[in-house]
Amino acid sequence: MKTIDALLAEGVNGKRVFVRADLNVPLADGTITDDGRIRAVLPTVKALADAGAKVVVASHLGRPKGAPDPDFSLLPAAERLGELLGAPVAFAQDTVGPAAHEVVDGLEPGQVAVIENLRFNAGETSKDDAERGEFADKLAALADVYVGDGFGAVHRKHASVFDLPAKLPHYAGYLIATEVGVLKKLTDDVKRPYAVVLGGAKVSDKLGVIDHLLEKADRILIGGGMAYTFLKAQGHEVGISLLQEDQIPAVREYMERAKEKGVEFVLPVDVLVSPDFPDLKTKAPANPTTVAADAIPADQEGLDIGPETRKLYASKLADAATIFWNGPLGVFEHPDYAEGTKAVAQALLDSPAFTVVGGGDSAAAVRTLGFDENAFGHISTGGGASLEYLEGKTLPGLAALEN
Ligand code: 3PG
Repeated sequence: MKTIDALLAEGVNGKRVFVRADLNVPLADGTITDDGRIRAVLPTVKALADAGAKVVVASHLGRPKGAPDPDFSLLPAAERLGELLGAPVAFAQDTVGPAAHEVVDGLEPGQVAVIENLRFNAGETSKDDAERGEFADKLAALADVYVGDGFGAVHRKHASVFDLPAKLPHYAGYLIATEVGVLKKLTDDVKRPYAVVLGGAKVSDKLGVIDHLLEKADRILIGGGMAYTFLKAQGHEVGISLLQEDQIPAVREYMERAKEKGVEFVLPVDVLVSPDFPDLKTKAPANPTTVAADAIPADQEGLDIGPETRKLYASKLADAATIFWNGPLGVFEHPDYAEGTKAVAQALLDSPAFTVVGGGDSAAAVRTLGFDENAFGHISTGGGASLEYLEGKTLPGLAALEN
């Protein structure tokens, strides 16, 4: 994989460089609530602009349905990018139309533009190779060189991620190079004990990675909504907690395989429960009760791990040499259910291990709960992408940069 350093050595002055970023940031009423992904691509954008490139930044945001939709405009992300760069950033109100061409044609060396959400075009996400290829041709007309730096989207076989690099000289940006370097440390030659904490709502999202980790990890700690399917698979009642009944056989099989392989599977021993899901807007006190994980009342829902589990998980992480964490342990957006996620974040900080926080919700949780993100070994910008990498899958966006 050629990196941006090779491109800079070749020289980019006056060249139009297309940077496929992942500026898919969370927004509330049009305001960005976590700009981590924008900050993550700054080194690449800055280096190119400083070297005199005409930088064309492109990304998706959310999942619009292949047509323009103002709710998913990239404008707020473009404005934030300008603030962080400390330089004006031009914005094109379309992706490959007259506005994009006008904006790109107007760039001087060292200037930066953002084009509108790639997913406003059906060709971006199409399953049809020809349709994607056609859209990629239109994107290619905007640039001389391609830099892939949207790590969060490399698991998507989309036009700007997979097809476009084949049409232009292509390089990996600093973010992708860093992310891949870190994830390699979790797959090749990992330092042991290797502990993994998996949270989040759905077991089905994590089955692939659990399957793979059974061959790699020494300990797997389970939390979040998915823990209740594991507890049910062990024969416990889970009240009205999140449950994926159809996943119970798979979960049982994993627990058996873990036993055979000597991988320690750790489940919550106590949980915080309530008959009601908390109000995340008003954050009104939820007054949860703590119960043993095998005694969840029939009319109650588990919403966080309990105090004994927090201690147990901290002790299981204390002597690890490598820790990977993906997914919150409870409904951390409400202060009454944030303690489990906080305890795991703190355990990572207290540990001398090499620690990796895997993207999406867990990265946002770390930042919104007030932790210093620089104190962690690495916070990935890709949730799905980092999980699929750890599953050992070929990621289209990385394969395209290799060729
Ligand atoms: C993410 O948020 O994980 C990436 O930006 C990819 O988004 P997607 O799941 O909508 O493809």
